[in-house]
Amino acid sequence: MELHHVAVAVPDLAAATERYRALGYRLVAEETLPDQGVRAAMLQSGASRIELLEPLGPETTVGRFLEKRGPGLHHLAFACADVSAELARLRRAGARLVDERPRPGFGGHLVAFVHPSWAGGVLVELVQEES
Ligand code: CO
Repeated sequence: MELHHVAVAVPDLAAATERYRALGYRLVAEETLPDQGVRAAMLQSGASRIELLEPLGPETTVGRFLEKRGPGLHHLAFACADVSAELARLRRAGARLVDERPRPGFGGHLVAFVHPSWAGGVLVELVQEES
C-alpha cells in the first residue's frame, strides 16, 4: 500500500499550517471531525500529503496524545482500494485493530485504524479514496 499521508499532532493548527507552507506545502482542505475530536488540515506538495491534527479539547484522543507525548508524529496513513478487505487481511495476519469496521474520516473517505503496537509504535490508518 502506498503512503497516503503523514499525520502530525499539533496544539495550534494555524501556526503549524504556516510552518508547512514554508516547506512548500499548500492547504487543500480543512475539516472538523467531531467523532475523532480534531480539527484537521490536509496539506499537499506534489504527491506528498501532511495531515495536521489539532485536538478539540484535552479529553480527546489527540488531546491526551499531546499531553502525554507532546506534538509530533501521530499516524501513518496508507491508501487502499478496499478498507474492509484490508482489515480482514490484517486481522488474519494477527494485527491488533483499533477499528473492527471502516468509518467515515477526513474528506468523507472510509478509514480504519490499526493499533500502534502492531506497527513499531506508530498508529496506522487505512484510507479508501474511492467508495
Ligand atoms: Co489521517
